[in-house]
Amino acid sequence: MNTPVPTPSSSAAARPLPRIALLATGGTIAGAAPDAANTAGYQAGVIGVAQLLAAVPGLGAIADIQAEQAASIDSKDMALALWTTLAQRVNTLLAQDDIDGVVITHGTDTLEETAYLLHLAVKSAKPVVMTAAMRPASALSADGPLNLLNAVTVAASPAAAGQGVLVAFNNRIHCARDVVKVSTYAVDAFQSPEIGALGWVQDGRVEFQRRALRPHTVATPFAAVERWPQVEIVASYAGVSRVAVDALVAAGVRGIVVAGTGNGSIHATLQQALAEAAAQGVAIVRASRVGSGHVMHNGAASDDALGFVSAGTLNPYKARVLLALALAQGTAERVALQGVFDRY
Ligand code: SIN
Repeated sequence: MNTPVPTPSSSAAARPLPRIALLATGGTIAGAAPDAANTAGYQAGVIGVAQLLAAVPGLGAIADIQAEQAASIDSKDMALALWTTLAQRVNTLLAQDDIDGVVITHGTDTLEETAYLLHLAVKSAKPVVMTAAMRPASALSADGPLNLLNAVTVAASPAAAGQGVLVAFNNRIHCARDVVKVSTYAVDAFQSPEIGALGWVQDGRVEFQRRALRPHTVATPFAAVERWPQVEIVASYAGVSRVAVDALVAAGVRGIVVAGTGNGSIHATLQQALAEAAAQGVAIVRASRVGSGHVMHNGAASDDALGFVSAGTLNPYKARVLLALALAQGTAERVALQGVFDRY
């Protein structure tokens, strides 16, 4: 049913404003270039959270914002330790009675990974909304301020509760599990391939058109941990060797996600190396490098014999997140791991 949800701005006179914690982590949304026409040669993560807020004058009418600078990084440099810190901070904030939701500003480059991690590791039904920008804050037509306004609008909406982590970007609201970055420079850089966005946000209105079905947040056993199991990604391509897989196994990795060709197929040379790794106890997950569509479990025909798990609709980067969380939580046996990928 397409029911527009009134946002707090339309009833602000009657009720106190929602209290939203804003965690800034850097990214292009906090980027600055030498001149306003420069949208490519800038430095990400250099503008502080106070300046981000100052660029969005209408925010105070939507929510009471409590802002903090959680990090100041280019998200290509996202670290596992920062994931843990971020997840713990979000959980702490959402456990407080005086916080109704969280907004996180982030770089676009690894947003889809952090979003899926938090989607699985946050333990609250309160809204968590991530946003970002493709143009630095200093640019003509910077997209960050409107994206931030819209993210706060979504987080302030009761309709966003219980939906896991959401990504508000370019007027659309995406589920963290589905959303991926699909363009290097376009302002419309995020899509949920094949499935589509959950809804939209515009001019203070929030409308959800569907809900995600897979369990998330409070309905998962996962948590961000202090010591992450090492999980790496390798790709299959013409002429690939087994050098990378052998080196990873020698280094003691706990899991390898393979970005396979097409429907998750793997070059015979790489497949042999991965099967040997699986036989040594390394968890092997088969995903696809294609960018959309699912990777089906081949069962007795292949995966069961080789010791592989199939990633379903998760791309290799999101599959790595789920595999690391599952291994950290103690699930390493292949059939149980396949169950994790089938469920989450
Ligand atoms: C980053 O991911 O931090 C830089 C790129 C961006 O935010 O668009």
